[in-house]
Amino acid sequence: MPDSHAQTASGLPTKIDTTVAHEARVYDYWLGGKDNYPADRALGDAIATHIPAIKSMARANRAFLGRAVRYLVAEAGITQFLDIGTGIPTAGNTHEVAQRLEPTARVVYVDNDPIVLAHARALMSSTREGRTAFIHADLHDPEAILHDPNLTATLDFERPVAIMLVAIMMYFRDADDPHAIVRGLIDAVPSGSYVVITHPTADFDERAMARVVLSAQQAGITFQPRSQAETRTLFAGTDILEPGVVPVVTWRPELADRPVTDGAAADPESAWYWAGIGRKP
Ligand SMILES: C[S@@+](CC[C@H](N)C(=O)[O-])C[C@H]1O[C@@H](n2cnc3c(N)ncnc32)[C@H](O)[C@@H]1O
Repeated sequence: MPDSHAQTASGLPTKIDTTVAHEARVYDYWLGGKDNYPADRALGDAIATHIPAIKSMARANRAFLGRAVRYLVAEAGITQFLDIGTGIPTAGNTHEVAQRLEPTARVVYVDNDPIVLAHARALMSSTREGRTAFIHADLHDPEAILHDPNLTATLDFERPVAIMLVAIMMYFRDADDPHAIVRGLIDAVPSGSYVVITHPTADFDERAMARVVLSAQQAGITFQPRSQAETRTLFAGTDILEPGVVPVVTWRPELADRPVTDGAAADPESAWYWAGIGRKP
């Protein structure tokens, strides 16, 4: 554990405040992890009263991350990843999926949550041939991420990079200009790079999602669902790959590492996230 009052080079506090809910820990709770506290579970359960299937939705989002990385390595030949909004390490972290297929793969993880920083060592379990790094930073300041020495020492921006923004952009209000943030990242990587985005949406049940937004707000967390059209606009500057920006469970399900046995997983409305991958021409 880091010193509870220390700050990283980024200047972000490293103190872990267990009295208020944190995005990474609520998500960890839904995924069945152990790195969460009563405040996180209270918000997780409050949201589950509005969306009873939230835990399987979170798992569906996580499963997409695995399929996306498998696609990028096996079909697109990508060996470099910038995974922003990493989350608490769990099964199938980006470097594990990528390095199983390509041991030389390199991954830079970025998260602003001190609890993810505390677990960063688990993200460093790279193959000998590959490399991983962790940056404690906030995506509100993308330039700080792009110029962080850990990034420049790990990734070669002369070669294509996959930018992973999986279940993070909902923490950005329109006033934060999420489009400019994503566009800035895309502009920084060379042609042939990719951006992977999932985004929760109210398109499947507006009223339930409005209650989720309120619960998050009451816990001090910004949460902005976006429509399919709004999510699509986050891919500006890239060509969106087939099958498009689609319900997360329907994005290339054949790339799953294990057969999908849950019948509900085939139902496009079973997880309220839009998902897609764009390629920078
Ligand atoms: C819902 S989790 C998603 C984890 C993982 N990407 C996945 O989809 O399985 C969102 C993560 O984004 C992180 N996050 C939220 N806002 C952030 C910001 N402004 N900068 C960096 N990370 C952020 C949270 O701490 C959390 O770990």
